[in-house]
Amino acid sequence: MIKGKPFVKWAGGKRQIIDKLKKYVPNEFNKYYEPFVGGGALLFELSPKNAIINDSNKELMNVYKCIKDDNKFEAMCKELDHHETMHSEEYYYKIRNLDRDKKKFNKIADYKRAARTIYLNKACFNGLYRVNSKNEFNVPFGKKTKVNTYEGQNLGIVYSFLNYNNITLLSVDFEEAVKDAKRGDFIYFDPPYDSDTTTFNSYTEDGFDKDEQKRLANVFKELDKRGCYVMLSNHNTTLVNELYKDYNIHVIEAKRSINANGKKRGKVKEVIITNYENKKEIE
Ligand SMILES: C[S@@+](CC[C@H](N)C(=O)[O-])C[C@H]1O[C@@H](n2cnc3c(N)ncnc32)[C@H](O)[C@@H]1O
Repeated sequence: MIKGKPFVKWAGGKRQIIDKLKKYVPNEFNKYYEPFVGGGALLFELSPKNAIINDSNKELMNVYKCIKDDNKFEAMCKELDHHETMHSEEYYYKIRNLDRDKKKFNKIADYKRAARTIYLNKACFNGLYRVNSKNEFNVPFGKKTKVNTYEGQNLGIVYSFLNYNNITLLSVDFEEAVKDAKRGDFIYFDPPYDSDTTTFNSYTEDGFDKDEQKRLANVFKELDKRGCYVMLSNHNTTLVNELYKDYNIHVIEAKRSINANGKKRGKVKEVIITNYENKKEIE
């Protein structure tokens, strides 16, 4: 089976640590849940037959939905071709600024919005997804002279994966996304990162503050009680260690961009937390 890979570059993407992450995946499980799917690095790596994938980012989940739909997928690909041909700095800002008029933007066909999201991700600075308080995409032009929105055959492989398996796509809060998980199902949580430099009640750009980390830990515990396999990744912070002290905490090193311009890379400690022991780790 040829596996797909993330069709967008996503903050916190797990491609760089995918081999480490895979080691902690249970050997067998029923349904796969990924409530913070982002670019879906582990999703594509595992390519499960039964899965529920979710992200609260509506524009991102709209792309997954359009790739899954025959007609919309074809129309989206044509639109991507068009973006590639037209690509320039001026064109980038024209497409980026479509969301400045919300009335008009909401009337744009979903396949066109999906193509816009992929195009902006490939053409913007450093592949960031960032919106301002008015939900306007505000990342500057990435200065590439050419963009490749398909990356070989990848979109076609992702289309096949979403269509020839039982994959449900949601765009709700993570707690809602896992409400039907049962004993034997596997849930992988990859939330926005906690940080030791942010304090309680401090503003986080993504809205995922310490109270959200605590709410997530409660959901983790509830799923544990239900008999699910639960795995979670995060930074190795004081709060995370405290919240998951009753579980297996594996510390790993990851290479990450450590400042806003993405050029300086450093090693940061991350954790992979599981509520089960795994044979692959011991072998
Ligand atoms: C660290 S990223 C996931 C990265 C992903 N695993 C990958 O490999 O690309 C976290 C994701 O959580 C989503 N998110 C933030 N708050 C959420 C919430 N309350 N419920 C569901 N998703 C949420 C964000 O939109 C973001 O895509």
